[in-house]
Amino acid sequence: MSVSISIGSGKGGTGKTMLLCNLALLLAKKGRKVCLVDLDIGGADAHLLFGLFEPKHSLTDFLNRSVDTLQETIHTFYAFHGLQIIPGTGNTLQTANMSYQEKQRLLRAISQLDVDVVLIDVGAGTSYHSLDFFMFSDIQICVTMPEPTSIMDLYSFLQLATIRKVLGSFLSNSQIGSILKKQTFSSISEVFDLAENTQTGAKQKAQEALRYFHPLLVVNRDIPNTNLNKAKLKKLVAKYLGIDIPSLGEIPEDPAIRDALKAYMPVTELSPNAPSSKGIVEISEKIDKIIELFRQPTMR
Ligand SMILES: Nc1ncnc2c1ncn2[C@@H]1O[C@H](COP(=O)(O)OP(=O)(O)O)[C@@H](O)[C@H]1O
Ligand SMILES: [Mg+2]
Repeated sequence: MSVSISIGSGKGGTGKTMLLCNLALLLAKKGRKVCLVDLDIGGADAHLLFGLFEPKHSLTDFLNRSVDTLQETIHTFYAFHGLQIIPGTGNTLQTANMSYQEKQRLLRAISQLDVDVVLIDVGAGTSYHSLDFFMFSDIQICVTMPEPTSIMDLYSFLQLATIRKVLGSFLSNSQIGSILKKQTFSSISEVFDLAENTQTGAKQKAQEALRYFHPLLVVNRDIPNTNLNKAKLKKLVAKYLGIDIPSLGEIPEDPAIRDALKAYMPVTELSPNAPSSKGIVEISEKIDKIIELFRQPTMR
């Protein structure tokens, strides 16, 4: 059984795809069997970072059933330690209109992939699909830049993800949709109250749902003296959402990342000594240890 890791953020451009592609490569280099699945609705570009311009198959083929299995859409990068990728769909509308059943079929197929680690790029934003793809995984990574605006975008993203997770613990999928249309919540305790008013004992179930939700925080394009913003985010999230977001690491602003993009190679491969590569390698080592924990049968 594979361990799944998803990466999300409030807005685009925080460096999610860059980080995920590098993590995928570093984990493959360590000998793990890795598949990167690009579920970024409308912005699927992970394959381009490896110089794959015209993939033979993409997620679209699975969604419109022109292939029978998700396995058939995999492309293997033999030059990159056998890393596998399922390129995202260029067909935004098709993915955005995905029905609940289709989404379940996709997620089931992802969890059945014959690999050690599945890395999911869920893209930015707070559509139901992005939130569900983000929450689907065993491990979540969230990325922000140090600016207060980016920090607030991430807060909003985590707030919606948390609310959706909690509502899902005591409501059916169609009920969640109608509640979210009618009501907004300013803190998670309001959702707990709604739970208890809906059915006795639901509050406890709702609290239980959050017990294992600890998205890991990465600050990308970091510049000195921005620890204050990170501390504020953590405080806000703990106070209003009741969750802890452990720090996974920081990646500095680094021109080597632009050079890597131009060379169609992850920065950790092209410039292993660049400051950003060092930050990413540290993150990958922590992730590797966490994966190991998940692979122990007692964790499941
Ligand atoms: N630490 C960094 N230093 C410099 N440029 C970066 C850094 N991280 C990301 N970038 C650049 O920012 C842009 C957005 O990155 P990307 O990974 O596509 O973001 P996302 O997937 O979150 O939209 C890309 O051009 C990327 O090369
Ligand atoms: Mg992206």
